[in-house]
Amino acid sequence: MTKKSFINDIENGHTTWNGEKGLIRVSKKIIVDPNRSTFIDGVTVRKRYSNALSALNLPEDFRKIRLSIGVTSPIGGEGKTLIAANLAVSLALAHERKTVLVDMNMTNPGLHKTFGTKLRPGLVESFHNGKVFLSRTKIDKLYLLPAGRHEDFEFGLNSMIPIKDILHSLEQEFEIVIVDMSSVLPIEDFPVAFVSNLDGLLVVIDSRRTKYADVERMFKHINKDQAFGFVMNNMDE
Ligand SMILES: Nc1ncnc2c1ncn2[C@@H]1O[C@H](COP(=O)(O)OP(=O)(O)O)[C@@H](O)[C@H]1O
Ligand SMILES: [Mg+2]
Repeated sequence: MTKKSFINDIENGHTTWNGEKGLIRVSKKIIVDPNRSTFIDGVTVRKRYSNALSALNLPEDFRKIRLSIGVTSPIGGEGKTLIAANLAVSLALAHERKTVLVDMNMTNPGLHKTFGTKLRPGLVESFHNGKVFLSRTKIDKLYLLPAGRHEDFEFGLNSMIPIKDILHSLEQEFEIVIVDMSSVLPIEDFPVAFVSNLDGLLVVIDSRRTKYADVERMFKHINKDQAFGFVMNNMDE
């Protein structure tokens, strides 16, 4: 590989050959918007939810652990975005972990509205660039990677290498990476190949709507070992 193509590879952020050390994944540069948002939508981020997560008595080991978590569900509309946002807020605020929330919901992204940031540049722009574009939220330790120019975007095979590079770069910079994903079904819209790059999945179940058969169908496409656990949403009090 010539020096020039090596540098191009670095700029494109792709996995590249590094002599005897073998294949290495090259990090993209993290670019943070200097304008910090001053808004958080109180409908999605509610004290009642984030407090519940903040009050968790986390084991000593967890206070230091670095983790990348995908939030998904079997069928859609079960509360993934709500859980992902409140989990991110409580980890950043109560547990003081440097956290980034990634909006990977390309059909209908909404986390930029929740946290009062711009929609773009975001994830899509970070694909074709040696940089990852983040927004600062009102909460000190919480950053957002908004969806970006998501119209006409599809997770094809071509997007798998860039998305893995972006995740790798975020994992270097942040203690906790939370990815708000789409539901596993319909499987055509779900980036299965990306899941193995995460430490694990949190599966949101709507106790009023999600059926056991939906959960079983979901696990035909993803491995049970990839699920850290379940969050039961809308449980009767
Ligand atoms: N526990 C809850 N309490 C109140 N509203 C909820 C709850 N869970 C979800 N919702 C509402 O239901 C809708 C769908 O939730 P959302 O998090 O967007 O689902 P998903 O991301 O899985 O599609 C949103 O309007 C959200 O505010
Ligand atoms: Mg959502």
